[in-house]
Amino acid sequence: MNFFTRRKLSAKAKFNTYYFLYCCYELIYGKVLLHNSGYFPSDLADENAYQYELYRQLMAAGEISQNTALDICDIGCGQGHGSVFLLKNYLHKESHLTGLDIAEVAIKYCKWKHRKLKNAVFKLSQNGIPSTAEAFDVFLSVGSGVPHYSKLLQEVYRCLKPSGKFVFFELYETRKELALDQLITRNGFEITKKINVTPNLLLSLTNDNERKQALLSRLWFLPKKVVHFLHHYAGTTGTEKFEACEADELNGYIYVLRKLPDLILGNVDLWDNGYLKGWAFAFNHHQPVKLHIIVDGQVIAETIANQDRKDVASAYGKQRLNTGFSVALPLAENARRYSVRVIDSETNLEITTEDFMIGG
Ligand SMILES: C[S@@+](CC[C@H](N)C(=O)[O-])C[C@H]1O[C@@H](n2cnc3c(N)ncnc32)[C@H](O)[C@@H]1O
Repeated sequence: MNFFTRRKLSAKAKFNTYYFLYCCYELIYGKVLLHNSGYFPSDLADENAYQYELYRQLMAAGEISQNTALDICDIGCGQGHGSVFLLKNYLHKESHLTGLDIAEVAIKYCKWKHRKLKNAVFKLSQNGIPSTAEAFDVFLSVGSGVPHYSKLLQEVYRCLKPSGKFVFFELYETRKELALDQLITRNGFEITKKINVTPNLLLSLTNDNERKQALLSRLWFLPKKVVHFLHHYAGTTGTEKFEACEADELNGYIYVLRKLPDLILGNVDLWDNGYLKGWAFAFNHHQPVKLHIIVDGQVIAETIANQDRKDVASAYGKQRLNTGFSVALPLAENARRYSVRVIDSETNLEITTEDFMIGG
């Protein structure tokens, strides 16, 4: 039985195996020969032009300072070449790189390949980001798929310093684009730039195609499935990925996101039969927030926003289901000013206060 089609091999194990073969292939030929980051380079004379141009473009799009030492994290670093290139050539020399990848083999490879680098570490990230909160100035990602997942966006949010940036390149299915943008903004980020780089991507892949096809044709000794995978990975012409980009079904984008400050979202909906109703949640965690209702500086009622709100869940994601509140509030005879103070249950810090008038 063919080793690669054996049912017992999980998708993850298969991925690791392919990845391992890919790394071996690189070792045999001594260079990242297949890799083309997918951006047509501005300077073809540069021998690394194709490999690193996309990473270079992320720096430019994100307006990442070269004059300040930065803590950078490359999520889905793969073999680490892109971000290591930036570390050596672009970033301030005191900057520090953390490369993360879900694939064990990728991290093992990075630890070996970049072992001489003093200002870089490579870590496995299979259950969230292995880091303390607010540890990084910038997160980078090239084609990892991370921005497609709410949980990972929340992790990036948690680990970014206040006003930190998340700059990434990702392929988006045109029909899902709006939903993905909403996912990003619902997780506490502002999209400050979104650049469609598909024409450049196609130009780059086409221009570099012959070289990659020639390299792949040397792999006659590998099972067809593996070669197919490598073609897909390398984005050669004729692959599904390439054709979907040509047909405008798939687009490559560079995004620049800014972490919004501890953001609270919510609304006082109505006063109904002796109860004040609404919803509220904090972007950076899933603990329900506390609310104080204040009149003339005195807290007259307290509650926790943890009730079922299907409408909020359908707008902001299912993790936001238990975010409603309903608090008993007898109305005064005359209209008066009330304030709702929102408190973070984790830190007990006040996040925001909103004023409103009711009664009379
Ligand atoms: C297309 S490769 C790109 C590698 C590298 N960024 C580059 O451009 O050379 C995508 C990488 O993302 C990694 N990856 C996929 N999902 C991930 C996740 N949830 N967390 C971390 N890494 C992930 C994969 O293991 C793979 O190494």
